[in-house]
Amino acid sequence: MAEKKISPQSSALIGELEVPGDKSISHRAVIFGSLAKGQTKIDHFLDGEDCLRTVDAFRQMGVDIEQQGESIVINSGGAENLIEPKVPLYFGNSGTTARLMIGLLSGLPLFTTIYGDASLSERPMDRVVLPLSAMNAAISGRSDAKLLPLAINGKELQAIQYTLPVKSAQVKSALLFAGLFANGETVITEKAKTRNHTETMLEAFGAELAVQGNTIRMNGKQALKPVDIYVPGDISSAAFFLAAAAAKRDSSLVIKKVGLNPTRTGIIDVLTQMGAQIEISNKKRIGGELLGDVKISSSSLIGIEISGDIIPRLIDEIPIIALLATQAEGRTVIKDAAELRVKETDRIAAVVEVLTTLGASVTATEDGMIIEGNQELTGGNISAYHDHRMAMMGAIASFFTTEDIVIDDISSIAISYPSFFEDLKKITTN
Ligand code: S3P
Repeated sequence: MAEKKISPQSSALIGELEVPGDKSISHRAVIFGSLAKGQTKIDHFLDGEDCLRTVDAFRQMGVDIEQQGESIVINSGGAENLIEPKVPLYFGNSGTTARLMIGLLSGLPLFTTIYGDASLSERPMDRVVLPLSAMNAAISGRSDAKLLPLAINGKELQAIQYTLPVKSAQVKSALLFAGLFANGETVITEKAKTRNHTETMLEAFGAELAVQGNTIRMNGKQALKPVDIYVPGDISSAAFFLAAAAAKRDSSLVIKKVGLNPTRTGIIDVLTQMGAQIEISNKKRIGGELLGDVKISSSSLIGIEISGDIIPRLIDEIPIIALLATQAEGRTVIKDAAELRVKETDRIAAVVEVLTTLGASVTATEDGMIIEGNQELTGGNISAYHDHRMAMMGAIASFFTTEDIVIDDISSIAISYPSFFEDLKKITTN
């Protein structure tokens, strides 16, 4: 346990910063680079614990992956030359590794067993196991294969047409990876658009797919060609500093080269609606992904309602949005976000518990929360619930508290943002 005491931060957030690479894109780059025959180079890779679990998995399957911090070089014999791992694959805390790999492993001629840490072992896997079973996948495991550990006996899969009951990019991606090795055309329909990095990267690696509205069609048995990838900065990591700068008086901050894929920019829309001053410049597209520089200056903020189709576009940002809402004028209501209950922890319960301990007035609802604005935060002992985004939200709260905050364990921050505190120092004066 790495406890951390943080004193109230009087400093504004000033300057420029590049945040580490996007977690979702880093995972996918390693997967595609390992499936494509030949050499793939990845730049600005997220050297965080979750993405390293994906790297480890492919090393166990015989792929040569050289990593030096943010640079990765993959030399692979292609999907057909992956070897059966002799030991169970450990996915740690990484839901993305688990869901995406279950999809992929279902369609490869290998037997694998997979497991994770205590948190991942409680997270629902039936959302991928059920549609994969309809494709002829052979997956068994704990609680009728709803929970890790699971055993996957790779099979010849048949493509399906499927409407996703949950708004989840992980489920969509699992089915696309399975579909890539299946016979026939996979057709996936989403009720709301979720992050589309898998689709973008499939195209970058030379696969053909058709996206029309919320429906994706892709033929199976397509070969992938290696391509070099640059991973934009993670907007979900940038969100912590953007939110702090929006509310902390006299702040002016630029986050450079951050990912601006529209399926991820719900946080920019929310900050703008709350009254933050945001300018975006130097927009460009690399490998199909949009990135640019985001400048934010502090201003007075107002509470808003956040619900409906925007939720998947900001699902990981809700803890920091909730903190920000305590500093806005008026009430903020978050709805349609029941998915938060099955993240690294129950993020509705955790956010309400942490913000209440810090002196805010927040009420949990079944699918979200109601946050009163204009709250003076005091301080206190809070738990990070072994959840990286809860730990970083707790640290940012120190910009708005009058007393010390003690976070029980900040080690989870290494999952998505190992240099979080160093970067925070670069843009503050105390
Ligand atoms: C992710 C999708 C989201 C998100 C997670 C990363 C991905 O999860 O919360 O941090 O990389 O596809 P869901 O698909 O479960 O919503």
